[in-house]
Amino acid sequence: MNKEILKKLSYGMYLVSSKENNLLVGCIANSIIQINNDTIAISLNNENYTTKTILETKKFAINILPTNTSIDLIKTFGFAKSNDINKYANISYQLIDEIPIINNTCGYIICTFNNQIKTATHTIILGKIINMNEITQLEPMTYKYYQENLKGQTNKNAPTYQEKTNKSKKNVFICKICGYRYETNEDELPNDFKCPMCGVSKEYFEKL
Ligand SMILES: Cc1cc2nc3c(=O)[nH]c(=O)nc-3n(C[C@H](O)[C@H](O)[C@H](O)COP(=O)(O)O)c2cc1C
Repeated sequence: MNKEILKKLSYGMYLVSSKENNLLVGCIANSIIQINNDTIAISLNNENYTTKTILETKKFAINILPTNTSIDLIKTFGFAKSNDINKYANISYQLIDEIPIINNTCGYIICTFNNQIKTATHTIILGKIINMNEITQLEPMTYKYYQENLKGQTNKNAPTYQEKTNKSKKNVFICKICGYRYETNEDELPNDFKCPMCGVSKEYFEKL
């Protein structure tokens, strides 16, 4: 089996928000799909505070993130926990149907809890759409855009997270004569390798 093929699946970038009494919660999610005209499915990690909140309050929103979303917002909502910090402290938002909707969003979809399928790590939550609207005409951010342009990392709680294998880790070789840096997936340099800067052979290279 080649796990790399999973990386060819396409996703968007979303902020899933909810509210538990006075506590505003939310997390970044990429695994969201429309099932039919009034049903949305999201895959949320069982350890996320947002998952717990949605299962208790039965209400949540999907904020569609635009390409100008700051990396700081993604770090706050994608790596911190809503019960540790106030994730909304430094961003502008409004409450719509009592759920936080950020101002810098393409639009929002508000759902009530409809059903769930539990796996060992994630819960697929089916939401029934009760309200939705456009907020800006900004371009929605895809997961690919996030990875390529914001050079973003994925949290281990994301369904798409893959642990780095040795195959995807790069080896770095440095030329001891001129400092040229060469990155490769291979463990060794080829026997006939020559430094493209100063021309010395592979013996002059040191592996980092
Ligand atoms: C790019 C990215 C994509 C993510 N996608 C998902 C996802 O689809 N489902 C999920 O449960 N968590 C996902 N996460 C991880 C959560 O956003 C993260 O665990 C968050 O800290 C949970 O916050 P909470 O505990 O306040 O709910 C993603 C994180 C990043 C950075």
